Amino acid sequence: MYLHRLIYYSENKIRELGLPLAKELKAIIAAGHRNNPAAGVTGALVFNDQYFVGVIEGDRRRVSSVLVRIAGDRRNANLTILQAGPIEERRFDDWYSVYAGHSEAVDRIYLRFGLTQGLDPARMSGPSMLLLLESLSKLDARSLASHVTSAPDHVEVIKVSPVMSHLTHA
Ligand SMILES: Cc1cc2nc3c(=O)[nH]c(=O)nc-3n(C[C@H](O)[C@H](O)[C@H](O)COP(=O)(O)O)c2cc1C
Repeated sequence: MYLHRLIYYSENKIRELGLPLAKELKAIIAAGHRNNPAAGVTGALVFNDQYFVGVIEGDRRRVSSVLVRIAGDRRNANLTILQAGPIEERRFDDWYSVYAGHSEAVDRIYLRFGLTQGLDPARMSGPSMLLLLESLSKLDARSLASHVTSAPDHVEVIKVSPVMSHLTHA
């Protein structure tokens, strides 16, 4: 297997399409959970009302086919590749989903990356984004609990982070 990592961001178009945000986010996360582990794909999907930011690791053919699928999904647009290339080892051991809202823990992480206004992928380099995604995906349950209270719209979705296995049972 030729291990590859790809980092992308795109605009969240769910609201603009008039679709229910929480339901669609939940469906996207469920798709990742259903398909990624089976394809040996690890990584993370970080999202808020405005953006999706994703990192996908795995066999380069698999990584490419996941990206192609995402690029054709009307729930996002203007998909931009931040970084792509061969890697020696994975940085993610599972596929994580994280709501990038605001909480004390999350804001502290943003600050480390110079993000004073929250997640803004257009202002970040690939290497920096990788570290941010890693940090967000490692947030512990307590940080995520305060996370939940700050985003009532997304409660159901946030419950699945950082490991998504609860989602299919939610
Ligand atoms: C921003 C974004 C990220 C997504 N990430 C993934 C992913 O990592 N894996 C995946 O299988 N589907 C992902 N999807 C969903 C796919 O576009 C597609 O709906 C899904 O793979 C279809 O899965 P199914 O054939 O099992 O129904 C994503 C969609 C969006 C909008």
